[in-house]
Amino acid sequence: MKVLLIGSGGREHALAWKIAQSPLLDALYAAPGNPGIADHATLVELNVEDHAAVIAFAKEKAIDFVVIGPEAPLVAGLADDLRAAGIATFGPSKAAAQLEGSKGFTKDLCARYDIPTGAYQRFKSAEPAKDYVRAQGAPIVIKADGLAAGKGVTVAMTEAEALAAIDDCFDGAFGAAGAEVVVEAFLDGEEASFFCLSDGKTALALATAQDHKRVGDGDTGPNTGGMGAYSPAPVMTATMVERTMKEIIEPTISGMAKDGNPFSGVFFAGLMITGKGPELIEYNVRFGDPECQVLMMRLKSDLLPILYATATGTLDRVDAEWRDEAALTVVLASKGYPGAYDKNTPIAHIPEASEEAKVFHAGTALKDDRLVATGGRVLNVTALGKTVTEAQAHAYALADRVEWENGFCRRDIGWQAVAREKA
Ligand code: AMP
Ligand code: GLY
Repeated sequence: MKVLLIGSGGREHALAWKIAQSPLLDALYAAPGNPGIADHATLVELNVEDHAAVIAFAKEKAIDFVVIGPEAPLVAGLADDLRAAGIATFGPSKAAAQLEGSKGFTKDLCARYDIPTGAYQRFKSAEPAKDYVRAQGAPIVIKADGLAAGKGVTVAMTEAEALAAIDDCFDGAFGAAGAEVVVEAFLDGEEASFFCLSDGKTALALATAQDHKRVGDGDTGPNTGGMGAYSPAPVMTATMVERTMKEIIEPTISGMAKDGNPFSGVFFAGLMITGKGPELIEYNVRFGDPECQVLMMRLKSDLLPILYATATGTLDRVDAEWRDEAALTVVLASKGYPGAYDKNTPIAHIPEASEEAKVFHAGTALKDDRLVATGGRVLNVTALGKTVTEAQAHAYALADRVEWENGFCRRDIGWQAVAREKA
């Protein structure tokens, strides 16, 4: 099979690394890819926003299957256009990608199909939103409706914070994404990410993971795209997985199909495990980054036929097997992230991969044949271990061997699981 992978982050490096191990693979291309992905794929300079160019390239190289990593091309309808051109594609349609592209869309779906989630209201202007906040009181959560690179959510512990967040949204802090605002009840509990494939009819549960969104140790400082993750998430017991499938995933699949938007791709459900059980915080319609890195480390099965079955409506014929070990990834980011940071700082050394550990590239580039950091999140140091505690020790030992002066990382990735393992 000839495969084209779209994307350039740590998630796509993990997908490329795994796809490259498939005996079914004849050729792997990545657009635009990164220097880590270049170890497994031929990099192609394609403007992914130019759907006609992507289709032309796929036809020229006789690509059998396109795997789309990030959300932006999905929300822009790249999967629809590729499928219309007769090319099998992993990733939901533009209509189904609204599950991630519009928080209001997802909340309305939950309301229609009785999917447990925080009570909410949608607003198109500030005053009624503020009245609602005053009536509900704090803590309360303010969300820009559209895609805001993970930064459009304010968990307000006070009413004043909530009112300010509403002003920020309507004053354009998140551009068009903030033209509509969702105000949502605060859910108290432990968060987990649950990954599940769907071909529109059948669901295949993958695995669970836990992300670390805040930039600083002890979950302090501003939100980021994710500073590290581990899998499995111990809060997702077998009972919680079963309840999530039954109460959240299955009604979503059948509801989306009923509404004329069948969902094909990966559901990444952000869950809050509250006293009542699993409640949906949000859906994403692609693999999490860096959660994908830990899932790929733990996946024993060949990824390629699983993704292909998802895309071609034959998910009932495949299964996914997982290693018993835990996996943990530590994100090395540029000093200053998620604020301003220097670009093109040199990375002098990245340790070799082994069976048990691998450094995935996210924001790197080659400049004059030298590896430099170009992004906020730059490397994902990922390792396996018998326990999360052991995976954590392996990952940090490897991270300490990376030579990159302008990099930093959180030192406590996995703390919740490590505390549980000690108890
Ligand atoms: P989201 O972008 O919707 O995942 O929100 C970002 C983060 O805000 C989540 O990972 C949670 O930590 C937090 N959050 C979002 N919605 C809620 C909620 N209703 N209650 C508590 N925390 C929330
Ligand atoms: N790590 C969170 C995300 O991919 O959205």
